Amino acid sequence: MSEGRGKRLSVFVASTFIDEVRIELAAAFDVTLATRGGDPVGELVERSDRGEAFDVIVFSLDVPMGGDVIRSLPADVRALATYSVGTDHIDFEAAKERGLAVFNTPGVLADSVAENAIFLMLGAARRATESIELLRGGEWAGWNPTQLVGVQLAGRTLGILGLGDIGERIAMRARALGMEILYCNRHPLPADHPVGGGYRSTVGELVSESDVLILACPSTEETRGIVDDALLSQSKAGMILVNIARGDVVDDDALIGALQSGHVWAAGLDVFAGEPRVDPRYFGLPNVFMVPHIGSSTIEARLGMGRILIDGIIGWKAGRDVTNRAG
Ligand code: DGY
Repeated sequence: MSEGRGKRLSVFVASTFIDEVRIELAAAFDVTLATRGGDPVGELVERSDRGEAFDVIVFSLDVPMGGDVIRSLPADVRALATYSVGTDHIDFEAAKERGLAVFNTPGVLADSVAENAIFLMLGAARRATESIELLRGGEWAGWNPTQLVGVQLAGRTLGILGLGDIGERIAMRARALGMEILYCNRHPLPADHPVGGGYRSTVGELVSESDVLILACPSTEETRGIVDDALLSQSKAGMILVNIARGDVVDDDALIGALQSGHVWAAGLDVFAGEPRVDPRYFGLPNVFMVPHIGSSTIEARLGMGRILIDGIIGWKAGRDVTNRAG
């Protein structure tokens, strides 16, 4: 480490964070904030060429750490700390080859992301997009028994793909709404696990029994594009799909086709393949309720994410095992 044990670590902050997080980072480390929005890693390399040394880079999803980027990092850099629970923007092989420690933010955002999942599920079920457009467009002609008939969630079955920290919190909230819970993971939870729920070992089984499917899995080789024509053809007619995972878990052509035909009755989307680009066909679908990747955008999650990174980096420097070491 550039400043030796016991001294403050030198941290390059490559993404922009809320003031509270920047203040807490600056209290813990010698912080340099990137000034060049579009190319923070290029700036880091230039600063390093001029003699500045950085131990750790703190960044987020907006700074992809692919293999080439990681290999271009100055030799002083010893750790990457991503302000996200997702790590699909990091090439772990390249990080390992370079001997870099990797930290992320598990747990602390799970409640906020779960709340967003419930919000999207309710919005999709109760036709929020059409309701908002009707009111804001000044078109509402008054209550009548046929307007905007949605579906009630109580009594319906929720299938969760990926029952980790976030999926568990979704399950607890959905049960309070009166839903039955099914889930698909690599392995079933222990029988005495408080979340309970019925385990289904394949996604096909899960969708064939689910009225609502919530995607809460990481984006991996196994899950990318998993929601495709073949899977949707096994789903219950009239299913609602909610994606709070990553956009690339869904094949957009397949989902859009199913939304157009009504086989998927509605969708609630927080994430999109190729963000910030959004497939424009979604904008023409009134049965899509969507928000711009705001799952963890609460003050509680934002503060928690900063703090878990700070604690993880400090613990790592002190030689302790830390809970948020991702690689
Ligand atoms: C994550 O943490 O991976 C979210 O998608 C953004 O907070």
